[in-house]
Amino acid sequence: MVANWKMHKTVAQSTAYVRELCRLVEQEPLPERVEMVVAPTYLAIAPVAARVRVVGVGVAAQSLDPGREGALTGAVSGYLLFAAGARYAIVGHSERRQQFQETDLMVAERVGAALDAGLTPILCVGESALNRERGETEAVLHRELDAVLGDLPRPAPHLVVAYEPIWAIGTGVAADPAEANRMAALIRRRVDEAWPGAGESVRILYGGSVTVANAAAVFSESEVDGALIGSASLQVQDFVTMARAGGIHQEER
Ligand code: 13P
Repeated sequence: MVANWKMHKTVAQSTAYVRELCRLVEQEPLPERVEMVVAPTYLAIAPVAARVRVVGVGVAAQSLDPGREGALTGAVSGYLLFAAGARYAIVGHSERRQQFQETDLMVAERVGAALDAGLTPILCVGESALNRERGETEAVLHRELDAVLGDLPRPAPHLVVAYEPIWAIGTGVAADPAEANRMAALIRRRVDEAWPGAGESVRILYGGSVTVANAAAVFSESEVDGALIGSASLQVQDFVTMARAGGIHQEER
């Protein structure tokens, strides 16, 4: 269960959120199979990581730049993020692809850089409304996956893939759970084709207008292992409620 705060929350607001998160999780532990991760802005990674470590909550960076250290003004590498306490990195979010011109090639490079730095990549893939209208959804997913899978010399043991249809992000219109499940199955198959045997262990998240109201339906699908949540994760109590909804279904499997 990943909370993507995007460009929200000051450092003070981020630490206040995780203070409350720790209190809620200590009060009532999360179901055993639920792994919870928060993705604050770069600024808040270190203070957030210092606070959540004790309750076993992970921290993700929302992106990263390739390389380790060097003369790259404004860049933040996986090495620096790991040292600050991050253990995951979201890579290839559609907002990065569309608004920061990240290409498939750049996404592949960042996934490799995350792995080199010891970060678990959370690779985002998903089609636009136009792709969907034109019946290109599967082709887009294959292209975005193949760019990364083909570029890595060996299977990445902890890879996480998030299916995030662009038309569902921030719109209040989530994908139909059955459709999300079909796409998750397609992703799993593609990973397994690239790296035989790895399909089973890859964790697949759904993202796009997940809320307290629809979280249980999203998790009831067999191929969906969790969620990448934007605006509904900004309220700590809601994020915990959604994580618990996920845990119930994980235990039922
Ligand atoms: P929303 O949950 O706000 O639709 O955002 C989804 C998302 O982009 C998570 O990365």
